[in-house]
Amino acid sequence: MRILFLTHSFNSLAQRLYAELTERGHEVSIELDINDAVTIEAARLYEPDVIVAPYLRRAIPEAVWRNHLCLVVHPGIQGDRGPSALDWAILRGEREWGVTVLQADAEMDAGDVWAEARFPMRAARKSSLYRNEVTEAAVAAVLQALERLQHKIFAPEPLDYGRADVRGRRHPLIRQCDRAIDWLRDDTDTVLKKIRAADGAPGVEDELLGRRCRLYDACEEDGLRGEPGAVIARRDGAICRATRDGAVWIGHLKPIIPGEPALKLPASTVLGTALSGVPEIPAPLHAPAPLRTFREIRYEERNAVGYLHFDFYNGAMSTGQCARLRAAYEYARGRPTRVIALVGGPDFWSNGIHLNVIEAADSPADESWRNINAMNDLARAILTTDSHLTIAALQGNAGAGGAFLALAADRVCARRGVVLNPHYKGMGNLYGSEYWTYLLPKRIGRERALAITENRLPLSAPAAKRLGLIDECFGDDLADFGRRIVERAETLARDPALGERLAAKRAARAHDETEKPLEAYRAEELEHMKRNFYGFDPSYHVARYEFVFKRLPAWTPLHLAGHRRANTPAKIQ
Ligand code: COA
Repeated sequence: MRILFLTHSFNSLAQRLYAELTERGHEVSIELDINDAVTIEAARLYEPDVIVAPYLRRAIPEAVWRNHLCLVVHPGIQGDRGPSALDWAILRGEREWGVTVLQADAEMDAGDVWAEARFPMRAARKSSLYRNEVTEAAVAAVLQALERLQHKIFAPEPLDYGRADVRGRRHPLIRQCDRAIDWLRDDTDTVLKKIRAADGAPGVEDELLGRRCRLYDACEEDGLRGEPGAVIARRDGAICRATRDGAVWIGHLKPIIPGEPALKLPASTVLGTALSGVPEIPAPLHAPAPLRTFREIRYEERNAVGYLHFDFYNGAMSTGQCARLRAAYEYARGRPTRVIALVGGPDFWSNGIHLNVIEAADSPADESWRNINAMNDLARAILTTDSHLTIAALQGNAGAGGAFLALAADRVCARRGVVLNPHYKGMGNLYGSEYWTYLLPKRIGRERALAITENRLPLSAPAAKRLGLIDECFGDDLADFGRRIVERAETLARDPALGERLAAKRAARAHDETEKPLEAYRAEELEHMKRNFYGFDPSYHVARYEFVFKRLPAWTPLHLAGHRRANTPAKIQ
């Protein structure tokens, strides 16, 4: 089918749907929901069989839904209506939630129901639920709706609140007063629920050490205690705040400064000197997992396998985070194990350099330079490891430098639902580093490497596997993927031929080094990056500014809007 995506942004859910539908042979073109005239024009240009709206923030114009079948993905169960579906579901403590595919008509979220998929709720951030459970359910429901449409075997059902199985209801737009935390009264669970229901946007408005800000990125703390509301500790950029029956960590804040755009940043960066006197309490790297506290980097070891977890908020890796991860990696490399699995975090593996921290720096160019070098140092440490076999285990998505960092490992495995964006160009023509000019062609050849980096389109894990970009893809969900990674890593560690494998790895690296030293790749890449950061063309700085402040584009980029392009990009086989 010819499918037009109408979407507020080409976000992770839209990318995953795009990958799933194109995999199944559908032709998909994308239009960002900029204004009614643009949407009407896109529908006229493309003449789609159906319009799918994966992520919309406003109604589809009547001229479009009257003339085209429009299927809207709503992140709520049947009957749920309103713009804060997941936020309310988390705050109400729903045990089961879902996604409904509705036909657009005059009333928002009230059209006929084409499909619904449900999932058990998890105590997690709204953004994490969205990237995992909601995305999986949306894929299932959209595929079912399209199947029903294609085979004309189904008449969509009008929303009927009289039916016992229609549990959802209409809910208003959630306000900050619905989210407000009362630090003297709310218990830890309530505080966590409120912050999670507002994460990644818009955050919970609050006052912290005399400053108005929005709170994000909360997790529970098992040990520390203090006066309710007091800031009692800090660690790696996060702060710990006491509740009436425990404490929570808050990783990120956005200052509220009237009339000024604000950035989401590590809490300690926002609070600065206000934190003097608050003790920095480090967390052990190598400690049992059930200890609930804030730990971005964690190491565990079983049966000759070292597992390095690095759960950086949004997958963004600042200079400091890269350095800490490299130190942890060196620790793992020094252990008497045989395999190291780099397991990232459950939401993201990595999205490369930390664009928000860079934006907030006194000199964004200098900070970009420091950050990319710290990423490169980490990539080199992985690439030159000859004592262990390394596995990049992608539970979550990876983009830009983060996707290339994964290729530094000997084996790359991804969960089936993962989406990869192995390209930099969308960020103001950024050239990229992380030894990608060595790693990418080595895996998939020059021609495909060029197509991938130029096309700037997301790849599903199965498509990446077919291309040879990654080695394996498996696992229906996080738990299944985790189990199977352990199986594979332990099998490798037990393999009597491991010594030979390591010898072959050393020989291959030595051969490549004589052909062209790693440092030559790095130096060439950094020459380009220097021009990106310090040259006359400000595209990277402009693109970064627009990305971190979430400026809406004035038009849909042509690499997405096939219907506006004269030539289609090279197909990657
Ligand atoms: N630095 C800082 N923040 C980043 C980031 C980065 N490298 N990559 C993603 N984020 C943040 C986004 O700003 C967003 O923040 P929010 O919590 O305030 O909403 C959040 O992560 C999720 O990103 P989003 O774009 O909504 O996620 P997605 O899954 O839909 O898209 C990417 C994933 C990777 C395609 C997209 O985030 C992206 O292009 N990131 C930039 C990658 C990059 O250019 N890195 C620098 C070069 S190495």
